[in-house]
Amino acid sequence: MKRTKINGLLTLEKIPGEVLIKGWVRTKRGSKEFSFMDINDGSALKNIQVIANNDLKNYSDIEKITTGTSVAVTGQLVESPGKGQKWEIQASDIEIINIALESYPLQKKRHSDEFLRTIAHLRPRTNKYGAVFRLRSEMMFASHKFYREKGFRYLTTPLITGADCEGAGEMFRVTSPEPGKENFFGRESNLTVSGQLSAEMFALALGDVYTFGPTFRAENSNTSRHVAEFWMLEPEMAFCDLKENMDHGEELVKYLTRYAMDECQEDMELFIKFVDKSLSKRIDTILNTKFGRISYTEAIEILLKSKKKFEFKVEYGTDLQSEHERFLAEEYFKKPVFLTDYPKEIKPFYMRMNDDGKTVAAVDLLVPGIGELIGGSQREERLDVLEKRMDEMSLSKKDYWWYLESRKFGSAPHSGFGMGFERFLMLITGISNIRDVIPFPRTPGSIDF
Ligand code: 4AD
Ligand code: MG
Repeated sequence: MKRTKINGLLTLEKIPGEVLIKGWVRTKRGSKEFSFMDINDGSALKNIQVIANNDLKNYSDIEKITTGTSVAVTGQLVESPGKGQKWEIQASDIEIINIALESYPLQKKRHSDEFLRTIAHLRPRTNKYGAVFRLRSEMMFASHKFYREKGFRYLTTPLITGADCEGAGEMFRVTSPEPGKENFFGRESNLTVSGQLSAEMFALALGDVYTFGPTFRAENSNTSRHVAEFWMLEPEMAFCDLKENMDHGEELVKYLTRYAMDECQEDMELFIKFVDKSLSKRIDTILNTKFGRISYTEAIEILLKSKKKFEFKVEYGTDLQSEHERFLAEEYFKKPVFLTDYPKEIKPFYMRMNDDGKTVAAVDLLVPGIGELIGGSQREERLDVLEKRMDEMSLSKKDYWWYLESRKFGSAPHSGFGMGFERFLMLITGISNIRDVIPFPRTPGSIDF
């Protein structure tokens, strides 16, 4: 018989008769006469209840089934008299695939997130992390769906690179395995911090493109919002200015949030009920309000005028700290807000110089609970301005020769941004630590699993 997944069973309208399911035992209660088991196969948050009578030939083995055991159950799907479930299975055969040892750590219902991080290989078997990783998968798909519907082309960009996109000196070095022969590629190479520079070349050929892949940062910041390996969704659009770039970012965030609410209801309900009491309101705000838009300069004025005590000093010309970003999004605007036009000194070389000669056409999207979700800009498409900027920043024009050529042969205004995928998941789940929305987090000093 063909196996049915539990998410398929739970939504059935008619009783199909006999079914076969395979999964892991979440709980078991029993007596000499019969046993009840809740089985979960990861396809849905909900379990299905199985009833085993003592006339089953291996009932004495069934009595020994422990939490975590993998089983295959054949039986009749019948209407359940119990509350909260439509169907249950009256088992005619239970095959024990593998008994979980008594040391299985997920015995009780609730464990702390900190503890579950130490068993990251088992945590997806809990309700909460099952929901997180189903949602993560759905949001990956929804991202591709969004861009397909908008006519963008999907581009994969190299993970090993010779270019430093952000110029922040936070790159992991790639070396040759042979001793003494460090530079396999003939020059220094690194794991990429962003696919942007490659994406720009393709935007100037295919029009609208996006890359979506892993990126790497060796910043030694042990915070709840940073990991050394994370996924970034990066659209890059030809003939697009800063305003259109923001419109696009707002549309993307709203689309993905809407998709989660419509297509992942059961898992989203778990986050709304059990993870963050203010999540429902936050999602409503994302969906139904227009995001704020102010300049960096205005943001500095707001921060200086606020009575709030910050740990880090607010000063024009310095980068905003997370506490400042969160104050703006959480307390001042109470919704996501775009900040634009940052001083050129605190932004990378590729951002377009504004007419004031002091600021660049940068944009960050700040969101409640997290701070920066999106970082992007209009790109400098004017060769002379770009070269001047690179000289000022002592960047080698020789190393970026191909990048500069794009400004010689039919250059065009273009814009794009990067959205941290894990930070987006934090936003819509209310989960406050980035380590809990990525399967096996990489952070300083930690590479278990
Ligand atoms: O602001 P960032 O550094 O922008 C870029 O890399 C641009 N080249 C992107 C582009 O324009 N195509 O990074 C973009 C986003 C941040 O807003 C943040 O959400 C996320 O990537 N991010 C991180 N997420 C998790 N851990 C880290 N260490 C992150 N660093 C950045
Ligand atoms: Mg940034």
